[in-house]
Amino acid sequence: MTLSELQTSFEQAFGKQAEKIFFAPGRVNLIGEHTDYNGGSVLPCALSFGAWLLLRKNDDGVLRFRSLNMKETYSIQLSAIKPQPNRAWCNYALGCIDIIGQRHPEAKLTSGYDLLYYGNVPAGAGLSSSAAMEVVTARAFTEELSAVCYQQSDDKAYRTELAKISQLCEQQYAGVMCGIMDQFASAQGKKDHAIHLHCDTLEFEHVPVKLDGIKVVITNTHSPHHLDSGAYNDRVRQCQTALEQIRKVRPINYLAELTPEDWQEVEQAITDPIAKKRAHHVVGEVARTAAAVEALKQGNIAYFGELMTASHVSLRDDYEVTGPQLDALAEAAWQVEGVLGSRMTGGGFGGCTVSLVKDEAIESFKAFVGKEYEAKTGLKADFYVAEIGDGVTRLR
Ligand code: GLA
Repeated sequence: MTLSELQTSFEQAFGKQAEKIFFAPGRVNLIGEHTDYNGGSVLPCALSFGAWLLLRKNDDGVLRFRSLNMKETYSIQLSAIKPQPNRAWCNYALGCIDIIGQRHPEAKLTSGYDLLYYGNVPAGAGLSSSAAMEVVTARAFTEELSAVCYQQSDDKAYRTELAKISQLCEQQYAGVMCGIMDQFASAQGKKDHAIHLHCDTLEFEHVPVKLDGIKVVITNTHSPHHLDSGAYNDRVRQCQTALEQIRKVRPINYLAELTPEDWQEVEQAITDPIAKKRAHHVVGEVARTAAAVEALKQGNIAYFGELMTASHVSLRDDYEVTGPQLDALAEAAWQVEGVLGSRMTGGGFGGCTVSLVKDEAIESFKAFVGKEYEAKTGLKADFYVAEIGDGVTRLR
């Protein structure tokens, strides 16, 4: 959809032109899965897919949320900003407005707004359509409300604050006790770069994704992931259990502080067998992520690919977040000549895989993986060659 088509939709919905237009991207994570809430590092990239927000102040004292995707409009009085039962998409926006007010009391909402949202991140694909919607809202309303963070000249710190606002929204308004990776990627993305983010300190660097003759291919299971289904929060709790038990023998703040060598010494402190498997994944994934970042910097893409594949195996066997659809895609991909690595990306339980595929193998990859996947699951997969884009921005 073009910007002028979006403008037309805004006028049709609200009778006037929008005053401003913002965009925030979805993300794909290359490696470092389920490490963010364990204080580890991650390596996501912002995508060219994302969420657009068009807005205009109104005189009605009402926030009017229109979603072009859902073809729904919700009106909420300024005096009644709180989580809305059964209005999932609207909560991602409303929550950010609320949390800006909680974190920046100077940014007081005194007028209503007409808001139009449109997203082209495939729905339920685990590519962070909700983070895109949160970050685009946080970007727009910190500016509209002249929150102190918006007026700072430090763009990096401002973008980090947008990610924090958005993460709190996901936790408080969607009930997912997520880490900060998705929102951070949407806020701090950079074209043709991955973000190596240390989730304990929020220090990060942009690492160029230079893949001569190789593409990042995203494959959609079309089996929706349900991040709010409770399985994600269960993983968060199981990691906390492991951490508490390890703390009896070693004073650490996060599971991610442990190296694979430390693991030998502390693992017997974890008495809960499920918690032990989860922690084993985290320790291995943290080491793999560090190694993968080095490999990417040195142009050793073959090793990077091997680490991706090892990541999937660990998420399948120890973390148990893959499921038959993601396993079918990854296992088919591993058989294709010209595939350097393939793994699930995001929270898991459905959603997408990410693969590194040589240019000349892309067609055979799509044909073979598509056929195997359909034979095993009865579902049709979709393939996207990822374009790595910039973080949130104001377009007009
Ligand atoms: C979801 C969460 C992230 C992260 C990933 C798993 O996308 O929102 O914070 O935990 O799952 O790596």
